[in-house]
Amino acid sequence: MGFACEDLTTNRSLSIYSGWLEQHCQPNFRTNVTPDPSTCCGPYKPLKGFKNDKPPSLQKAVDVHSHDTIGMIAVDKQGNVATGTSTNGASHKIPGRVGDSPIIGAGSYADSSVGGAAATGDGDTMMRFLPSYQAVENMRMGADPTTACRKAIARIQKHVPVFFGAIICANHTGSYGAACCKAPGFSQFHYTVFKPGLSQPLLEVVDCL
Ligand code: GLY
Repeated sequence: MGFACEDLTTNRSLSIYSGWLEQHCQPNFRTNVTPDPSTCCGPYKPLKGFKNDKPPSLQKAVDVHSHDTIGMIAVDKQGNVATGTSTNGASHKIPGRVGDSPIIGAGSYADSSVGGAAATGDGDTMMRFLPSYQAVENMRMGADPTTACRKAIARIQKHVPVFFGAIICANHTGSYGAACCKAPGFSQFHYTVFKPGLSQPLLEVVDCL
């Protein structure tokens, strides 16, 4: 797309990484490996009898301070819809972890005949439910954007009552909404809107379900 390759490491991310190394790589989500991941940094090998690590549970690692996914929905004058996400993933993730953000339908989804949606939060939970796809399909079936977002979150909550996550929705005419799941330390979700007639972005907020 013409963007120059650049190192996105910041002084802050470097200092978080150094602090993690100094704490003997804690928190650490590896299991069934040697050396003991609760006290040692790797390199790790699977314990005898295990082919590989179990998937991590990142619930503890993800909170309002550690989430950093940027999700966007753009609707142009003709009603064309585009969505995108950008993320650093989850803090202290295992190398090779793929979160929800790059997965179409999980991180975001767009269909210009309907609208778009983009999600943020605990990707290990959310990617199992394709919430962005679900929200767009909800709008296709007639739901307004707020209801479409709420239904997508509620569908996850049926299986995982408390998780960290939020979703934004916009239809191809420019109406929009959002929803989030109430979790410890997370009771509201803020998002920004820019639309014709505004001279600056509008900060919106929703109470979590
Ligand atoms: N939502 C970002 C991630 O879990 O990787």
